[in-house]
This record gives sequence, structure tokens and C-alpha cells, in this order.
Amino acid sequence: MNNRFVVILAAGQGTRMKSRLYKVLHSVCGKPMVQHVVDQVSQIGVEETVVVVGHGAELVKEQLGDGITYVLQEEQLGTGHAVMQAEALLKDKEGVTIVLCGDTPLITKETMESLILFHEEQNAKATILTAKTEDPTGYGRIVRDSQGAVQRIVEHKDATSDERMITEINTGTYCFDNAALFAALKHVGNNNVQGEYYLPDVIEILQGQDELIAAYQTASFEETLGVNDRVALASAEAIMKNRINEAHMRNGVTIIDPQNTYIGAEVIIGMDTIIKPGTILTGKTVIGHECEIGPNTEIINSYVGNQTTIKQSVVTDSEIGNDVNVGPFAHIRPNSQISDEVKIGNFVEVKKSSFGKGSKASHLSYIGDAEVGNDVNLGCGSITVNYDGKNKFLTKIEDGAFVGCNSNLIAPVTIGKNSYIAAGSTITNDVPENALAIARERQTIKNEYITKLKEK
Ligand code: UD1
Ligand code: CA
Repeated sequence: MNNRFVVILAAGQGTRMKSRLYKVLHSVCGKPMVQHVVDQVSQIGVEETVVVVGHGAELVKEQLGDGITYVLQEEQLGTGHAVMQAEALLKDKEGVTIVLCGDTPLITKETMESLILFHEEQNAKATILTAKTEDPTGYGRIVRDSQGAVQRIVEHKDATSDERMITEINTGTYCFDNAALFAALKHVGNNNVQGEYYLPDVIEILQGQDELIAAYQTASFEETLGVNDRVALASAEAIMKNRINEAHMRNGVTIIDPQNTYIGAEVIIGMDTIIKPGTILTGKTVIGHECEIGPNTEIINSYVGNQTTIKQSVVTDSEIGNDVNVGPFAHIRPNSQISDEVKIGNFVEVKKSSFGKGSKASHLSYIGDAEVGNDVNLGCGSITVNYDGKNKFLTKIEDGAFVGCNSNLIAPVTIGKNSYIAAGSTITNDVPENALAIARERQTIKNEYITKLKEK
């Protein structure tokens, strides 16, 4: 097997995106496009991955991290010029170089493998990954001779009207013999409509030297979609979404309505979990087995245990245990830890709080900056009053405490173990263990008051 090197082109601004964000950093299913490409590459086993950066170089590097060699293309003079930036690194190395674009997020490792294999079988100097499409607008076209041998690639903008009829396109992914690639690049000029040094021109140059050029046509045009604008970005999103949903279903997750289920590229879901319509799972979310999630639920960057139900709710940056019931209409905000067998019911907001095993806040509560022990019952309308307009304070509610309905717990305050808070209390002082706290006006009765009032 040949040594394999990879060059990923990611230096462009992406003018057609009309965006302040650099093109290759736009996300598809929550993951930047160039990261999708790098993640696939990292699964095929390569000696070195070189990413050509330019616009937004620092941000791209920050996104992709270590384990990659970066080369800077200071001026974006074209894709050929971009590959040239890797010359010093790669030209003396023996093997093949796979060139990929950072804006083709759907390309798979299987297709890369097939391309390399085909290149090696054909003993070619260059192999182009091509695809057929009914609407090739914008893509480079593959020009073949009458025998079907590849002659060159012509860019859409440079193509004659006849050439524009060609439906076989250049996907922007290639496999080259290393030495041949860098030798040919030296001869690439910029005499074309865009005044750029085109990488595809290498094909005509090698062809002119009687080198063998191969084309590996993939059956899936979809997979090679190049994202140049927001319309293509939405197409890529739809395709990736289907791919992700299908993978989860094949792994034993029930998705009731895949069209209306949005799962990020990095989300993990256990077997026999059921995802109901309108659910959005993003970031590094992990969901255990046999859960019921949704309908209409958004879970962002959170961990959910097994056999947990979350309905019509939003969960962000939090951890939820096993056999937990959340919702409908609950909001679990960042840095919350919800232990096993907890119930967070309707219209309950939890923020930066922990709930011990078996505790319940079943209805209409705000629990913020609180440490709630085990088996605590927070009655309907329990409120932690955590903010004085300037600072946030902690509320501690110890194991077994029972907080009556419509109580205000004015933080900082501790509600002792097994204590009771009478409904309607406003608690300003700590409550000792096993005590009953009543903090409200006593009721007075004025007999026949209304009768007398009406007589007046
Ligand atoms: C390119 C191909 C075209 C092919 C299509 C497939 C060329 C000249 N054309 O066109 O044949 O059908 O991809 O999607 O190669 N880039 C740099 N530096 C540069 C210019 C571009 O790093 O100086 C990067 C961009 O960030 C992008 C990639 O190269 O990731 C492709 O560039 P782009 O401008 O999108 O090329 P296309 O017009 O799509
Ligand atoms: Ca492109």
C-alpha cells in the first residue's frame, strides 16, 4: 500500500455564503463542514493531513486542533495555488496525495477508500472523483475524448455552451501520485476567466505528458455536494440529517418521524430509546437506553441516563440520571444535575441546581442555585429567591424536606433534614431538622362581614 497524504483546502472566504463566518466553518448538523471532512479522513489511516488555511486561519486551526499540519495560503489565488502551499512538506515524499475541499462535508471515508483503491488498480498518476448530476451548474466538467479517456476539466465559468451540457462533474476530490502532482502544479497558469491558478488544470498538464489519468465515478452525487451558498448548505443539512437519523435507527433507536427529528453529528443514543417528533438533540449530548424523548424537546450538550422520559422540554448543559421524568414544559438550564428517579414536572425551571435521588418538583416552580437533597418534595409554586438584584445566593434543601405549596425560600437559606415548610411561607431564616416552619400571616375570620356589608 502507498503512503497516503491528504491536503484539505480551507483557505477561501466563501463570498457566496454572504457571511461574516468563513465558509468551511459553517456547520452542517452542528459540526463545521471542514471538521466533517477531517473526521472522515482520520478514519482512513493517513501519514499526514495538511490543511491549507487562509481566511479565518486562526479560527480554523482552533476548530481542528492538533494532529494536523497547517500551511498558510496568504493570498487566495486559486485551488492550484492552495495545494502548492503544501509542496515543501510533501513533494519529496513517496506515495499518494488525496486532495479534498473543506466545503464538501458529505464525503465519506468509504468513497475516499474506493477512490484510492481505484487509483492504485489503474496505476494512474491522477484520479478524479467524478459524479453525474442533472444540474451541473457551477461545477467543473469532465471533458473526455471519443474513447472516453479523460482529457481535462473545464470550469463552469470557462466552459463553452457545449461543454456546459456535460453532466459529469469534478467533485473537487482527487488522488494524485505525489511527485506527479507537484511537478505538474509548477506549470499551472492563471489565464482563465477568474484569473486563478486552478488545481484541475493539473489534469490537462499530466494528460499532455501522456500520463494515465483515471476518473472514478461515484454513484452518489449527493455525497459530493459542494457547499458554496446557503441554498446548498440547507441541502447538505437535509442529507446529513437523514444520514444521521438512519444510522441511529440502524443502531436500535426508534425515530417516530425522521423528517421532523434533528440530531447533531456528535450525539450518542442508546438502544430502544424512542425519539418523538419535533425533537432537536445537539452538541455532545448522550442519551441512554430505553428513554422517551419528545415530542418537541430540545436537548443541548447534556447527558441523560437510561429509562428517562423528557417531554416538551428544554435541557441545556446538564446531567440527568436514570428513571427521571421531565416535563411537559420544563426548562433545565446549564449546570444542573438531576439524580435518578427525580421528577421535574410541568412549568418547572431549574438553574444551576442539583437534585438528589427521588426528589420532586412537580409543578410550577423556580429552583435556581439550589442543592436539593434526596426525597425532597417541592410543592407547587416553590420558589428559590436566589437573587437580590446584585448577587446570587445558595439555597440548601436537605434530605426528606417537604416544602409546602407557594413557598418563597429567600437565599441564602438552609431547609433542614425532614423539616416541613407550611404552604404559603416566606422563609428568611434557616429551618432546623425535623422542624415545622410557618412564615405567613395568621388567618382571621370576620363572621357575617359580607352580609353586613351588603345590608349597608
Ligand atoms: C471547485 C473546482 C471545481 C469543482 C468544485 C467541486 C477549481 C478551480 N474548481 O470549484 O472544478 O467542480 O470545486 O465542489 O478547483 N480554496 C483555497 N484557496 C483558494 C481557493 C479555494 O483554499 O485560493 C478552497 C476553498 O476554501 C474551498 C475549496 O478550495 O474549500 C474549493 O474552492 P471553491 O472556490 O469553492 O471552488 P469551486 O468554485 O466550488
Ligand atoms: Ca466549492
